[in-house]
Amino acid sequence: MTDGEVNLHQQLISAIEHQKRSTVTVLSCLLSVQDSVGYIPSEAIDIIANKMDTTINDVWGVASFYTNFRFTPPKSSTIEICWGPTCHLLGATKILETTQNELDLETEGDSEKGNITLKYNTCLGACAQAPVININHNIIGSMTPEKIPQILSKFLEDN
Ligand code: FES
Repeated sequence: MTDGEVNLHQQLISAIEHQKRSTVTVLSCLLSVQDSVGYIPSEAIDIIANKMDTTINDVWGVASFYTNFRFTPPKSSTIEICWGPTCHLLGATKILETTQNELDLETEGDSEKGNITLKYNTCLGACAQAPVININHNIIGSMTPEKIPQILSKFLEDN
């Protein structure tokens, strides 16, 4: 095992063994792993199956049912565009279109133009500031399509 593989293994074990939830389930294990490392490595499936005394197929079944789980590492930055009701009414569609154009994407996913992943969100919990985006866990409110190119330029330059 390389150092990186050992580190990942330790992170997975820690995420699964030190959950704050009172009831530990296959789903709670998957959520803890994704919170910890940003995706579900295949090794995590084996560890969770072992811990929960179930099969790899059962764990894959749960993981693949929920579209929020990803199975490849995310880019180093993530932009989330809220398209919930309040943000939608206040212009989220144009913000989303502009972001997709800037990142050369047609839907959610990893941009080849920069080290950034685009995700949709149905409510970022900041409706009073709508329309809202979230970059690397920082909420930015009162968003407009015109602000998007400048906000993204940093991530595109870093590529
Ligand atoms: S609907 Fe966008 S933050 Fe709630």
